[in-house]
Amino acid sequence: MYIGVDYYPEQWPKERWKTDLELMKELGINVVRIGEFSWSLLEPEEGSYDFRLLDEAVSFIASYGMKVVLGTPTATPPAWLVQKYPEVLPVQEDGQTIGFGARRHYTVNSRVFRRMSRHIVEAMARRYGSLEAVIGWQTDNEYGHEKSDRSYGPRDQKAFQDWLKEKYGSLDDLNRRWGTVFWSQIYTDWAQIPVPRKVFQEHNPSLLLDFDRFCADAYTSYNKMQTDALRARIDKRQFITHNFVYTGLAQDQNAIAEDLDFISFDNYPVWGGLAEPIHPAAIARQHDLCRATKQGKGYWVMEELSGAQGWSQIGYLPRPGHLKLWTYQAISRGAEAIVYFRWRAARFGTEQFCHGILDHDGKPRRKFEEVRGVIQSLEPFADDFLEAVFPKEIGFYHDPENEWAWNIQPQSDNFSYPQEVLRFYEPAHALQMQTDIFREKEDLTDYKVLIVPVYFLAKKEMNEKFKQFAEAGGTIIFSYRTGVKDADNVVTDQTLPGELAELCGIEVHEYDSLRGERKGSVRGVRGALGGTGGNTEVWCDFIEPISAEVLAVYEDTWFDGKAAVTKNQYGKGTVYYVGSGLNRDMLLRLYKEAFTEAGLSLQMENTAVETVRRASGDVDYLSVMNHSTETAEHVELPAGSWKNASEKENEHVFKGLITLPPLTSIVLQKPKIT
Ligand code: GAL
Repeated sequence: MYIGVDYYPEQWPKERWKTDLELMKELGINVVRIGEFSWSLLEPEEGSYDFRLLDEAVSFIASYGMKVVLGTPTATPPAWLVQKYPEVLPVQEDGQTIGFGARRHYTVNSRVFRRMSRHIVEAMARRYGSLEAVIGWQTDNEYGHEKSDRSYGPRDQKAFQDWLKEKYGSLDDLNRRWGTVFWSQIYTDWAQIPVPRKVFQEHNPSLLLDFDRFCADAYTSYNKMQTDALRARIDKRQFITHNFVYTGLAQDQNAIAEDLDFISFDNYPVWGGLAEPIHPAAIARQHDLCRATKQGKGYWVMEELSGAQGWSQIGYLPRPGHLKLWTYQAISRGAEAIVYFRWRAARFGTEQFCHGILDHDGKPRRKFEEVRGVIQSLEPFADDFLEAVFPKEIGFYHDPENEWAWNIQPQSDNFSYPQEVLRFYEPAHALQMQTDIFREKEDLTDYKVLIVPVYFLAKKEMNEKFKQFAEAGGTIIFSYRTGVKDADNVVTDQTLPGELAELCGIEVHEYDSLRGERKGSVRGVRGALGGTGGNTEVWCDFIEPISAEVLAVYEDTWFDGKAAVTKNQYGKGTVYYVGSGLNRDMLLRLYKEAFTEAGLSLQMENTAVETVRRASGDVDYLSVMNHSTETAEHVELPAGSWKNASEKENEHVFKGLITLPPLTSIVLQKPKIT
C-alpha cells in the first residue's frame, strides 16, 4: 500500500532535504507528491524550462527508495504569464476580473491558457515520463475549487455560445426548451446569449443550469487536454489522477474520471475557520462519492489532513487519534493510498498555518509518532483488506446536476443541499448500513433499498429505473420536492410528483416553504411512525394519497390531517414519500422499518460509531471507529471471535460487547464462514 506525504522541496533549503527524507523513511513513507504549484520555477519565462530543482528533488527522493507522484503545476499560472496574457484571468459574476496573487486564477476557456498549460505539461511529460521513480501524475490541483469553477468573461461567453450551438443545433429549439418567450428573451442570434453575470433580478433557470453544465464540460475537456498531452509521452505504467473536492462545484467528477486511471480526493474533515470537524456521516458520504466516481474503483486520498489548517483563520486542532481515525475511515470506505498533507508547515506564503506532520520548527513530535503508528498498524492487513469487497445494501442518489438545480432555486432560505442530503444519509450511517452513491448509469439490481433525497431535477432514464427497481421488489425512499423539474430545468406540467406520482401512489397539490424560524409539526399515525410526532423543517408537501397508505400527517391550523409521509406498494416493491424535512427521530424509525422489511439486518444504532463491513476471499473484516472525542462507546460485535487485524500474532480475541475509547479505530477480522 502506498502511504505518502505532500512535500514542497522548493520551499526548503536543500540542506534540509536530507533530514526530511530520513525522517520520512523512518516513518515508512513510500511515496511523495511534489510539484503541483511549481510553474514559475519550471518555466521562468515563456518556452524556457528549468528543471534543475525538480530533477534534483526527484532523484533525491528516489535515492531513499521512495516513489514520486508529479503534479502538473497549472493551478498556479506564473506572474509573467498573466502579465503577458491577461486574458487568461477569470471573471466573476459581477464582472470583476480576478487578478494575480493567489492561485487558480485562470479560465479554462482561454485558448492561450490551454496552450500554455499544454506546453508545460508536455515538457514535464517528456522529462519525467519514463523515469523509474515517477509512478504517476496528478493533473492540476482541485479543479474548480475556491470558486474557480465558473468564469463570466468574454472568452467564456463565446465558448458558452458555441457549446449551446452544439447542444441545441437551432435557436428555435433553445428558445422553446428554455421558455425564452418569458420576459421577452427570444434569441435571434447565438451571439446574444449572455453568461449569467449579475442582473437586477434572476436569470432564466434553464440558462443557469446549462451554464453549470457548460462550466463542468469545459473543465472535463481541459483535463482531457492534459491527460492526452501526458499519455502521448509517458510510460504506460505511470498513472494519471486528479485530486477532487466535492462541494457542489460546477464540475462533473464522473465525467472527468473517465479520462483518469483512478480518482483522488483531498480529505479535510476540518479546515480553516471550522470550530469542529464536520459530521462523521458527512465525511463518510464524501468517501462514498469518491468510490462512486469511477464506478466502485479504489481511489487515493492525495491530501489527508495531518494538522490544524487555515490561512488567516485556523480551524480546530485534530486531536490525538483523529489522524488514525480519518485514515482508517478512508481506507475502510475505499481509499487505496493515503498521502498526508503536508509534510511540514510552510514558513512563508498564504498557507503558513496549514500545519503538517511536522510543524514550522521541523521537529518530529506527536503527529509524527501518530503517523508512524498508523503505518505500522496497516502493514499486516492492508494488502488483503484493500481487495475486500463491500456488501450491496443501500443505493444513495446523487447527481451534481440536481445539486446545481437546487443551488439555482433553493426555494427556502432553510434549504441547503449538503444539509438535506445529510438529513437523509445520516440515519442510514447511524444504523451502520453500507451505502453506495449512484446516478442513472449504475446498475441498481443488487440493492435492497434506494434513498433518493430531494430528487428535484428528475430525468426520464432515472425515473424509468426507479419504476423497474420497485416493480422488481425494491424499496425506495423519496423526499419532498421529488419530480418537480425536467432535465431542461423546466417545471413538469403533470401533477406532482410528476412522472413519479404513480410510483409513489400520491399527488401533491399544495406545498409550503418553511422559511426563517418556521417549523412544521407532524403526527405519526401508522407503522413505525404510529404514536410518534415532532417538528419538520424546510418544506411541507401536502400529500393526497391515491394508492399509498398514510404514515404521518401534519398538525396545522389550515392543513391539519393532510398526509406528510406515505408508503405505497408498487409491483413487488415499496415506495415511501417523506413530504417534509422530517426530524431525525421519525426518520430513523422509518428507516428501521423500511430496511427491515426490505430484508436488511439491522446492526446497531450509534451516531458516533461507524462500522464498515467488507470481505475478501476468506476473511470477513469489520472496521470499527469511534468518532466521539468525549465518550467511550459500546459496540456489539456480530457473532464470532474477532481479532485485531493489525496484530501480527492476532493474540487478542474480541467477542460480543466491546468498548471503544474516544477516537479509537480498529479493523477486526475473522475467517469467513462459508
Ligand atoms: C487543499 C489544497 C492544498 C492546500 C490545502 C490546505 O485544498 O489542495 O494545496 O491548499 O487545501 O489545507
